Amino acid sequence: MDNLYPTFDKMLPREAKETLLGQRGLVVWMYGLSGSGKSTLANLLERKLHDEGKFIKVLDGDNIRSGLNNNLGFTDDDRAENIRRVSEVAKLFADSGIITLTSFITPVESLRANAREIIGDDDLLEVYVKASFDACAERDPKGLYAKVKAGEVKNFTGKDSAFEEPEHADIIIETESQTEAKSLETLYQAVISRIERG
Ligand code: ADX
Repeated sequence: MDNLYPTFDKMLPREAKETLLGQRGLVVWMYGLSGSGKSTLANLLERKLHDEGKFIKVLDGDNIRSGLNNNLGFTDDDRAENIRRVSEVAKLFADSGIITLTSFITPVESLRANAREIIGDDDLLEVYVKASFDACAERDPKGLYAKVKAGEVKNFTGKDSAFEEPEHADIIIETESQTEAKSLETLYQAVISRIERG
């Protein structure tokens, strides 16, 4: 790109912000099918960490898609752009020392790899929130699976749009077989060890 003059070197260093906040910046990238429990867990974790004096931001598919990404739909290209933008935003937050919880389906490995490339290994914890399509359809918290069944939703993840099981995730939260409390505890333990300042 021509005629851009970034001034990152003149900015206050990240460590100064992390010292102020008393934490390390991190992106907790939570992915899985719609209805798998990503947002529920992100919200529970946000509250728990907030109560312990941590500074958190949740970025959620349904919210981001009504604002920043309101020009994107559910084609493969639009999902890729959705994930690219969210990754860049999450990186900005983490660089400011903020613990950022993202909740996006991120349906295929190439998108997860792109998020990792943008955010970087040091600042990323990849969390697969796992539940089968049938379990998610049964929960159907938004009534979306009923619409899918009635043929009213195109390109639906797990139906006529691909969902790939991950080959490597830092942690897997099995929400189908576990209680919410157990899922939260597993997630919390994985996150807490990454946000303490050494
Ligand atoms: S992603 O594939 O680009 O990562 P994202 O997490 O932002 O998806 O958005 C998923 C949310 O959009 C779902 O939780 C659901 O509420 C809604 N949604 C609407 N249409 C679809 C669709 N065709 N496939 C999946 N989710 C959809």
